[in-house]
Parts: sequence; structure tokens; C-alpha cells
Amino acid sequence: MPFAHITGTGSAVPERILDNAGLEQIVDTSDEWITRRTGIKERRIAMVDKNETTAALGALAARRAMQMAGVSADQIDTIITGTVSADRIFPSAACMIQKEIEAFNAAAYDISAGCSGFMYALDIANNNIKAGMSKTCLVIGAERLTTLVNWKDRGTCVLLGDGAGAAILQNRAEPGGILSTHIKSDGRYWDLLYSDSGNDPPPELLKGLASVPFHLKMEGNRLFKQAVSSMAGIAETALVQNGLTREDIQLVIPHQANLRIIQAVAEKLKIPMDRFFTNVHKYGNTSSASIPLAMDEANRSSRINHGDIVLLVSFGAGLTWGATLLKWAATNPG
Ligand code: ACO
Repeated sequence: MPFAHITGTGSAVPERILDNAGLEQIVDTSDEWITRRTGIKERRIAMVDKNETTAALGALAARRAMQMAGVSADQIDTIITGTVSADRIFPSAACMIQKEIEAFNAAAYDISAGCSGFMYALDIANNNIKAGMSKTCLVIGAERLTTLVNWKDRGTCVLLGDGAGAAILQNRAEPGGILSTHIKSDGRYWDLLYSDSGNDPPPELLKGLASVPFHLKMEGNRLFKQAVSSMAGIAETALVQNGLTREDIQLVIPHQANLRIIQAVAEKLKIPMDRFFTNVHKYGNTSSASIPLAMDEANRSSRINHGDIVLLVSFGAGLTWGATLLKWAATNPG
């Protein structure tokens, strides 16, 4: 059975930085509150006049991953994008990215799994490669969450940011690469974090028509507790399934929602914080983009090295959560 190796990573973020001082101009908040409760100092905001769409950010991240892997567009047979903020309800972000990168031999589709979108996409790509159905998969997490934000809700607008990350997965005979993927959901809690797709306001003549303003809504306190227990639990499952212990892990790349959640997961897993990669201070919560964005930064800055055991762990709306355990093979930053 072939193994799925990550042979290239890439990422892309919008140019515009909105720091906490900038947010103080928009809502009643402070740098002190945001930093203490979340660890976030700034986030990137996609701008229309710069054409920083979800598809454009995803395509840029994809091209960088392809370049690192030395993979041409026509080699890619599958494009899977984790996203909750595609530029259009349909078609998929993946199809729009396919056009940008000219990968016309691929099947392209999106996965909606909240902030776990990239982990769900990795799970599918890994299984496709292991089953011999795919040889070269492009897996992307791309988001423009700021289009869903209610800029009057200080409880949520300070948390989110835009960006994209990508990975090329290729089939290899040599053992390694993705050791296992694990995904879980619990729809009983879907209403802790959601966004409607709306058509507000309804015309008078069509009173009674389904109509909802489409802003993201969140119950932060309850999510916090679910996030910590779910991420720690699935990380333990991944370790046990592979006969590994916490000491075997060189780096954990968690979903970058909030520094306090990451610290609580570290404490629960009894893995020191210096083995957790964090960049949430620079980008905030970029949902599906957060893990591939962090993974690319860790890879390019040599925080991950050949042979390292790396744990990716996510949590998001749905509720959804997931873990992927990897044995890293050297990639060529080019
Ligand atoms: N600035 C200043 N004050 C604020 C802000 C803000 N931006 N937001 C809320 N407050 C106030 C509240 O109004 C409240 O005031 P009150 O005590 O006078 O009523 C006070 O701060 C405390 O509010 P809480 O919501 O209880 O604050 P909490 O300590 O829970 O922190 C936070 C809020 C940071 C959102 C926290 O609940 C959290 O991190 N939750 C997880 C959220 C998250 O990460 N979601 C995404 C994960 S899932 C995913 O990524 C899809």
C-alpha cells in the first residue's frame, strides 16, 4: 500500500495588517483585553481592490507548495479545499483555484468542516492515495472569514483573520509521511458556532420567506471547553493507535484559535509549550487555513526537520475535530 508524503507546503496572507490598536477604532475593546484573553496581536484582512479573494489566496499558497514539491499543474489529480468562506456559495473554491493554477487534470471540490476543514481534506487525500485512487493531491485551507464577521460584535470580530495554506501530497513506496488521520464530529453542538447564508431583508410582498442576516455567531465560553477536551482526546487517540508516546513528538501544530486554548491543550497532554508551534499572534484565527499556514511557516523556518514526528490537531464549528500524525520527510524550500 503506498504512503502519502507531504512533498511541498505553501501559504499566502493578505497585505493589510489590522492590529489591536486598529480594532480599538472599530469596537469597544483594548489591546490589553485581546492579548490577555487570546494572545492575538494582529490579523490580516483581505481587500477587494487587491483581488485578495479566497480563491486567489488559495491559488497563491498552492503555487508555492507546487514549487517546493517540484510538481507541475498537470500532475495534480485531486484538489480538495477546506473552507467555510468560499467566494461564492457555488461553485467551490477548489474549482476556482483549479482555474487559477491551470490544473485541468484534477477533480476539485470543497470540504465544509469549520476550522477542521484542512484536517478533513487531509484525511480524504491520505485515504485516496493509500487506496491507489490518487497519486498527487493538492490540499488547501483558504479563508476570508472577515466577510462573515459582524464588525459590531466585539466578542467575535477581534478573533478572526484571512489567509491560506496548502500542501502537496504524493504517493511514495517508502514508509512515512502520514502515519494516521483521525476525524470526529458532534452535531449536537452545531449552534455554538455558526453563520447563516442570508437574503435579508425580505421584500414586503414575500413576507414569510426564509430570511436571516448572515453573520457569524459564537458561544465562546462553551466552545473553549469543548475545544480543549476534544483536541487533547483525539491527540491521545492518534498516539495510542501508532504505539507512540508524547515524548516521541517533536512538534505539535494546533489549530490557531486562541493561545489560551493551545496552552490548555498542552497542559492536558503534558507536552511543553516549546514543542507547540504558534503564530496566532500574527494572524488570529484563520479557520481552515490556520494549520497549513502554521505548517508552512514551521517548515520554511526549519522548525520541522527530516524524520520528525509531527502532530496536527484541530477543532472547529460543527463541532468537528481531528488529528494527523506525520513522519516528516525533507522538503525542498527551493
Ligand atoms: N474587548 C473587550 N471586552 C470584551 C470583548 C472585547 N473584544 N469581548 C467580550 N468582552 C467582554 C464581555 O462583554 C464580558 O463583559 P462583562 O463581564 O461586562 O459581561 C467580558 O469581556 C467577558 O466576556 P467572556 O465572553 O466571558 O470572556 P471570555 O473570558 O470567555 O473570553 C473568548 C472570550 C476570548 C472569546 C473566549 O471565550 C474564547 O477564547 N473562546 C473560544 C473562542 C474561540 O476560540 N472560538 C473559535 C474556536 S473554534 C474555531 O476556531 C472555529
